[in-house]
Amino acid sequence: MKLALANLKGGVGKTTTAVNLAAAFARSGLAALLVDLDPQGSASFSLGVAREAVEASSAEVLSGERTAAEAIVETPFGGIHLLPSALRLAGADLALARKHKPEKLLKKALAPIGRRYDVIVVDCPPGLSILTVNALAAADAFIVPVAPHRLDLEALAGFLGLAEELRPRLGRSPELLGILLTMVDHRTQLTDEVVAAVRKQYGSKVFRTEIPINVRLAEAPAEGRPIFDFASWSTGALAYGQLGGEALRRARKAELV
Ligand SMILES: Nc1ncnc2c1ncn2[C@@H]1O[C@H](COP(=O)(O)OP(=O)(O)OP(=O)(O)O)[C@@H](O)[C@H]1O
Ligand SMILES: [Mg+2]
Repeated sequence: MKLALANLKGGVGKTTTAVNLAAAFARSGLAALLVDLDPQGSASFSLGVAREAVEASSAEVLSGERTAAEAIVETPFGGIHLLPSALRLAGADLALARKHKPEKLLKKALAPIGRRYDVIVVDCPPGLSILTVNALAAADAFIVPVAPHRLDLEALAGFLGLAEELRPRLGRSPELLGILLTMVDHRTQLTDEVVAAVRKQYGSKVFRTEIPINVRLAEAPAEGRPIFDFASWSTGALAYGQLGGEALRRARKAELV
């Protein structure tokens, strides 16, 4: 299964979820690849891969200068493989737009190595740029993380609508695996209200698992380690472990794995 983490909004937990969900899959014995498609490189950083250490990145893979197999590196964490990103990706919009079928470049690049992995998780930048469109075109399914304290229900509906509109252009379209509530803090009444509103509006589309606000999740990236390696008994680790199980059950039901 190829799974994209996407949302128009920034800072909602896309990267935290991409990294730790890939780690949760790897822990359950699956061969996992994390693709960093964000020029900021936060997912690469979160797995301890510094910008200076990146020899070939997703930018060169999209442009066709390198193959995915050449750019992928191994990490010490449960055998997760990483296709790292680079700042160069930031200029990719213009360069890629001139290519033939610019929205299918990632799909094409991953095709030769797809069979090596049980799951490929793609971390997207915020927004719906050509990078995110590439991730959605390559994906079988996508997850939309939302943070209740920054939630804009209209923007969420807008993003889901845009993803839906893209479907015919993307060929075999990605399915919404689920909306994920992240950074949930039930100590505030506002959170309870927003969580209830999202669950009412989207029903079973919302993962049962909620990711709580957890300082360990915020600290782990600077250590360059997934949460299971950094703080395996934290509430964050327990939540991402549970999400891994729920995501796999959903994927099996939809016959994606
Ligand atoms: N459950 C959580 N508890 C506490 N902090 C969190 C949690 N999830 C994410 N964070 C922190 O919140 C910030 C934003 O999270 P993250 O980088 O995952 O969001 P993003 O959607 O990928 O952002 P961007 O749009 O900039 O790529 C980060 O500093 C991260 O460490
Ligand atoms: Mg991010």
